[in-house]
Amino acid sequence: MSKRSLDPKKVSESRTVMTELIMPNDTNPMGNLMGGYLMRWMDIVCAISAGKHTEAHVVTAAVDHISFQNPIKLGDVITLEASVTRAFNTSVEIYVEVFANDVKGQNARRCNHAYFTFVALDDKKRTPVQVPPVLPLSSEEQSLYEGAARRREMRLVLAGRIKPKEATETRKMFADLE
Ligand SMILES: CC(C)(COP(=O)(O)OP(=O)(O)OC[C@H]1O[C@@H](n2cnc3c(N)ncnc32)[C@H](O)[C@@H]1OP(=O)(O)O)[C@@H](O)C(=O)NCCC(=O)NCCS
Repeated sequence: MSKRSLDPKKVSESRTVMTELIMPNDTNPMGNLMGGYLMRWMDIVCAISAGKHTEAHVVTAAVDHISFQNPIKLGDVITLEASVTRAFNTSVEIYVEVFANDVKGQNARRCNHAYFTFVALDDKKRTPVQVPPVLPLSSEEQSLYEGAARRREMRLVLAGRIKPKEATETRKMFADLE
């Protein structure tokens, strides 16, 4: 069994792209992709990215900010792009964006995005294990990295795992706006 590396990793090292053609079985009676099927693919592409970054088995712990901005039609081609934004102790946040175009490559549009949180587990798939840090390089990667600390606090407050007064990054952001 090879040993996991906890050295910092670049975002590009675990970036994952997945492409799907929308078939009749994927759609609702209006001929649009079912939201639940899209969420399944989002979960899979994010899990693959999280697995690459952590070099571990991962489980989905939380999903945030999922919304459906543009319908995806039967016969469209979708591309899901997943990247790690930040690693914490045993969890990582993955950002996923979904783009669609028709089968001829026309009518390109951005349809959807979300943040997924995964927890890395040991080889027995039971106990959370430490994850390697993320090295954000581009300005977009740095912005996602900084925002991840606030998003984590918000989801832990909403899950009842920390108290609002412990959300120091978020409180600081609101204080800066006053
Ligand atoms: C996710 C899970 C492993 C966490 O277990 P736990 O006993 O709460 O473990 P811990 O308290 O040590 O927390 C582990 C990490 O999970 C994070 N976490 C737990 N609940 C969370 C939530 N609701 N939102 C975001 N992160 C969460 C913690 O913040 C911690 O991350 P950190 O170490 O980076 O700070 C456990 O709840 C689980 O197995 N859930 C089911 C996962 C699953 O089946 N997913 C598929 C959904 S169908």
